Amino acid sequence: MEQIVYLNGAYLPLSEAKVSVLDRGFLFGDGIYEVIPWYQGRFLGFNAHIERLQASLQAIHLELPYSAEQWYDLLSPLLDAQSSQYIYLQISRGYAPKRDHVFPASVQPTVFAMSNLIPPFLEREQGIKAVTFEDNRWALCNIKATSLLANVLLKQQAAEQNAAEAILIREGYVTEGSASNVFAVVDGLLMTAPKSSHILAGITREIILQLAQTHQISVSETAISVAQLAQATEVWVTSSTREIVPIIEINGQKVADGKAGSVWQILNGLYQSYKISAS
Ligand SMILES: Cc1ncc(COP(=O)(O)O)c(C=O)c1O
Repeated sequence: MEQIVYLNGAYLPLSEAKVSVLDRGFLFGDGIYEVIPWYQGRFLGFNAHIERLQASLQAIHLELPYSAEQWYDLLSPLLDAQSSQYIYLQISRGYAPKRDHVFPASVQPTVFAMSNLIPPFLEREQGIKAVTFEDNRWALCNIKATSLLANVLLKQQAAEQNAAEAILIREGYVTEGSASNVFAVVDGLLMTAPKSSHILAGITREIILQLAQTHQISVSETAISVAQLAQATEVWVTSSTREIVPIIEINGQKVADGKAGSVWQILNGLYQSYKISAS
């Protein structure tokens, strides 16, 4: 049976979901999105994802007065209770009859949502390789914008070097990954960049910070310098669909002994339990 998706008030087969070529999402990347994980019948961090969605909408001056309950009712028909899935929800500024950078006077936003399975991430235990690049993205990375060309180019460059993530460096400090936040254990202290317009405030990042604090693991929202990244005993990337993934090699150099570290073992265990109990 064909996948059912949501588009502008209707649930319909994927192949019938059509958007105008004059949609500003297509022409300008003028839109925002969210990715919300769902584990066997419950969302993980639903309210936090909806709050970030509202913040992204506000940041691009797009009004869509749906409450968290309304979003829940809209999205739940796309999910089933048996599997691990994630919702991809995208809102663009919609169709306007003329291509113009300036916002059209009146426009109906395009709202699109679909769900996909979260496949088991087999590399999680063994870890992945990363490479570093200069963070050449714009200065509004806190907005979960659909215009992801810089991230796409960076991740592609990483893939061409057989690495699964690009770690981004701005003025000598790690910002985040091309599609993830970055954590490092330096001198026994777990570190991650503080929230700013240079990173997306990841929901997984927030859960990890809370889990670390409640379990007496020393953690600090402090930017990781390039020198600290090189001497870190553990480096991980985090995101809603890949969860917490150890980085075992950066730019061809092993991180410590090239295996997932002990702090990761603890936090990953805590995250897996939290995922089931709190979703
Ligand atoms: C650039 C960027 N940073 C961080 C994240 C992690 O965010 P979250 O944990 O909310 O999935 C993502 C997720 O896709 C991302 O694209």
